[in-house]
Order: sequence, then structure tokens, then C-alpha cells
Amino acid sequence: STNWIKAIALADVPDEDVIAVQAGDREIALYGVEGGVYATDNLCTHGNARLCDGFLTGHEIECPLHQGRFDVRDGRALCSPLRDNLATYPVRIEDGVVFVAL
Ligand code: FES
Repeated sequence: STNWIKAIALADVPDEDVIAVQAGDREIALYGVEGGVYATDNLCTHGNARLCDGFLTGHEIECPLHQGRFDVRDGRALCSPLRDNLATYPVRIEDGVVFVAL
């Protein structure tokens, strides 16, 4: 069964930006994009960098360390030096609260 974890108030998700939240025992990144909310792991798959410190442009998050880019909708690695895709998590919004399925 799906384990929905309460992550953050919807009002605290920044518009066109990224914020890190603790959900259960892991740190995830939440992105506000064009009114939607997306969730991924916060740690880059290439190295020790947090994507919440990166730059969001549209649906693409750029890692602050080597500028690898992922699509936040499906975690796809879009360019070198990335090799591995990023884990993404389903998001549900209910009564102004963002839940993430881990
Ligand atoms: Fe993210 Fe290298 S650590 S691109």
C-alpha cells in the first residue's frame, strides 16, 4: 500500500523554485512549476550536491555542483555529467497540504 507522508503546506512551496523538506527518513526536493508540485530526491545522482541549492528553469533543475540537469517531472537525466536518473515521488494535494508517496 502507498505510504503518503505529509510534507509541507502548499502555501510554502515556492513558485518556480525548489525547497527541501524532510519526509519520513529521507530528504526530498519539492518544486513549484506552473501551479503544479513535483517531488524528487534532493541528492544529485552524480555527486554530493543538494538540488535545493540548484537552479530551476521551467521543469528543469540544474545541479549546483557540475550543472547536470534533470527533468523534475520524471527525474530524467538530461545531460552530462549525469548518468543516472533521479527518483521521483507521486504528489497529492489535499486541504492545502502537500503529501508525497514514499
Ligand atoms: Fe550534480 Fe555533479 S553532483 S552534476
